[in-house]
Amino acid sequence: METIKIITYFSYLIASVLFIIGIKMLGSPKTARKGNFYSAVGMFIAVVVTLADQGILNFQYILIGIIIGSIVGATIAIKVKMTAMPQMVGLLNGFGGGASTLVAFSVYYDQLSLPNPNLNVQFTIAVMLSILIGTVTFSGSLIAFGKLQEIVSGKVIKFPLQNPISILLMAAAVVLLVMGVVNPQDATPYLIVAGISLVLGVLLVLPIGGADMPVVISLLNSYSGIAAATTGFVLNNSMLIIAGSLVGASGIILTNIMCKGMNRSLMNVVLGGWENAGTVTTADAKKVDIKSVDSEEAAMIFDAASKVIITPGYGMAVAQAQHAVKELMIVLEKKGIDVKFAIHPVAGRMPGHMNVLLAEADVPYDKLYALEDINDEFSNTDVALIIGANDVVNPAARHDKNSPIYGMPILNVDYAKTVIMNKRSMASGYAGIDNELFGYPNNLMYFGDAKDAITKLTNEIKNL
Ligand code: TAP
Repeated sequence: METIKIITYFSYLIASVLFIIGIKMLGSPKTARKGNFYSAVGMFIAVVVTLADQGILNFQYILIGIIIGSIVGATIAIKVKMTAMPQMVGLLNGFGGGASTLVAFSVYYDQLSLPNPNLNVQFTIAVMLSILIGTVTFSGSLIAFGKLQEIVSGKVIKFPLQNPISILLMAAAVVLLVMGVVNPQDATPYLIVAGISLVLGVLLVLPIGGADMPVVISLLNSYSGIAAATTGFVLNNSMLIIAGSLVGASGIILTNIMCKGMNRSLMNVVLGGWENAGTVTTADAKKVDIKSVDSEEAAMIFDAASKVIITPGYGMAVAQAQHAVKELMIVLEKKGIDVKFAIHPVAGRMPGHMNVLLAEADVPYDKLYALEDINDEFSNTDVALIIGANDVVNPAARHDKNSPIYGMPILNVDYAKTVIMNKRSMASGYAGIDNELFGYPNNLMYFGDAKDAITKLTNEIKNL
């Protein structure tokens, strides 16, 4: 084997190992930054080696692409708000899928232009799958992005014969795939498959409610990995096959974790489950006796406590209250109060959402406890402080069989002596249902925007 080939394969092997170690390290907040760095080094090695190996004649366009891509990517990454992260990831998945399709097409047309094209079965199947999965990912991700960005309605969008049309299109894509493989010289089936996939991606994501988009985005992330892996077969590039498979597998594992955290099947999400579920009326909630406190009263309750568990949720992210929360933690600890954080696996709108925010505010990792590690502690806790969380602390999930979130594991905040719940109003959360915790005898509502409310509370505690 030529020396250059040996160097290439060896470098690909190192890059793959770095990817795998990187993904493993992303599993814990303590090692996540390092993991990200290792993966980035792996990607750098893969890109450099590929550029050197492929005997590229002209680097001019590549350089222009890198410069434009870097400027656009860096600008978006700096500007994007933490709360808009899911749609940004969605968009990037879509671009990944689109890129796979374009690469597959260009390699296919490249072969067609040769006097003796090598259009074997493995190659043509890979091209077809790459076009199919890549394009579905592209258009599906654009719709998911549109729903989260509120460009497209976040509601379930269905029209007559939608499912039969989708099934018909899928069947047509399979027939065309076979035609393309049997008669690879004819580009028509390839182009029609791209068109069908474009429509399919739209049809598959439109009926899913905007609220379920984070799960769909995770699923599309997995698809973008599979598309990249099939493109790896088109190019005969083992590095792309490995990297794509890692993305495909980790995306599907993440989707599964999200579904488990919500106690729902993937089918239920894909078919727009929650939108059809009955919701508790707000009238019911208004009948119960709701008690509320102001910052001064809340501060006195904290002053008398010796153990506090803070449960953050989506509202903390919206209010960007993580630094105020860290300040509160410091003030409470100075008073000798034991402070821990309870993190629900699906608190917020993306996996690890709360961990990322609290890490940004330098809250020590060892203060963050996962649901299964902290749930038994609420019963011997003086104050459970909820900051902008709602569904993940709704006790209906434990006992109300009619509740759409029945069976979802929740944080047992209501077992604490006193619960202080900070949010702006009596409004529902992501699942669109009332929270019976509002009316519990040990619950006190502390209304206000999380950042303001927690800052006021901290100042009051300081003054005591
Ligand atoms: P939610 O149930 O969505 O409740 C968040 C609450 O925050 C709202 O009720 C809202 O009430 C309050 N809020 C909004 N802005 C606020 C502000 N500025 N200050 C204070 N409070 C504010 O959140 P959660 O408990 O974190 O649960 C997450 C939900 O998302 C779950 O249902 C989960 O299944 C779903 N989900 C999560 C993920 C991932 S991976 N995390 C993915 C898909 C779906 P007010 O308007 O009254 O303030």
